[in-house]
Amino acid sequence: MSLLESLIWRYAVKRMTGEKVPQQKVDVILEAARLAPTSSGIQPFSILQITDRKLLEKIQPIAYNQPQITEASHLLVFAAWDNVTPEKIDEVFNRVVAERNLPADALKGYSDNLKASFAAQTQEQRFNWAARQAYISFGVAITAAATEQVDATPMEGFKNTELDHLLELNKHGLRSTTLLTIGVRDTANDWLANLKKVRRPKEEFIIEL
Ligand SMILES: Cc1cc2nc3c(=O)[nH]c(=O)nc-3n(C[C@H](O)[C@H](O)[C@H](O)COP(=O)(O)O)c2cc1C
Repeated sequence: MSLLESLIWRYAVKRMTGEKVPQQKVDVILEAARLAPTSSGIQPFSILQITDRKLLEKIQPIAYNQPQITEASHLLVFAAWDNVTPEKIDEVFNRVVAERNLPADALKGYSDNLKASFAAQTQEQRFNWAARQAYISFGVAITAAATEQVDATPMEGFKNTELDHLLELNKHGLRSTTLLTIGVRDTANDWLANLKKVRRPKEEFIIEL
C-alpha cells in the first residue's frame, strides 16, 4: 500500500478483537514516534507501553469505559514533561555535543537562548509546549501504525489527572497527553468499520496563495 492508501485504510477503530499484535510491529511504531521531529530536538515527552491486562482494566473507567482500552493488544500513553528545566535542556544538548563530537561549548549560545525563553514562561506554558511536541510524535505513530497495517485508535477521551495519578506519572515528571490503542479491528462488531471516511474538501482545506 502507498502512504495515502494506508491513511485511507486506517480509521479510529472503536472495537478490537483482543488479538495480539506482534511486538516487532509495535516496536516499529515506537521507533517512528522516537524519530519524530520536535522543536530544537528536545523530545520533551515519553511513551508508556502498557500490556498488563489488570492495569488496562483499571484504565478503562478513566477513559469513559471505551472498549478499545481492554480489547487492545497494547496501549501507548504519550506523556509530556510537566516542566522544561535548564537541567533537562543541558542533558539534550550535552548528548548532541557528545554524539557529534563537537567542542564542549559549540551549542552554548543556542541552549542559553532557549533556557532564557523558557524562563520567561510559566510552568503550565512550558508543559503546553511539551504537549504540542508530544502530539507531533503521536501523529507520526498513528501514521506508522497505518503503514504497518496495524489498527490503532488515537484517544483524548480520558481523564488526564486520574490517569496520571494511577500511573504515578509525577514520579517521572510527566503528565499524560494522549493514548494510542494498538490492536486488531473487530469488523463484525465495529459500527465504524464500513462507514465512509469523511474529510473537509481539498478546496476548502488547502488555501492557495
Ligand atoms: C487527538 C485525537 C483524539 C481522539 N480521541 C478519541 C477518543 O477518545 N475515542 C475515539 O474513539 N476516537 C478518538 N479519536 C478519533 C477521531 O474521532 C477520528 O480520528 C476522526 O473522527 C477521524 O476519523 P478516522 O480517524 O476514523 O479517519 C481521536 C482522534 C484524535 C486525533
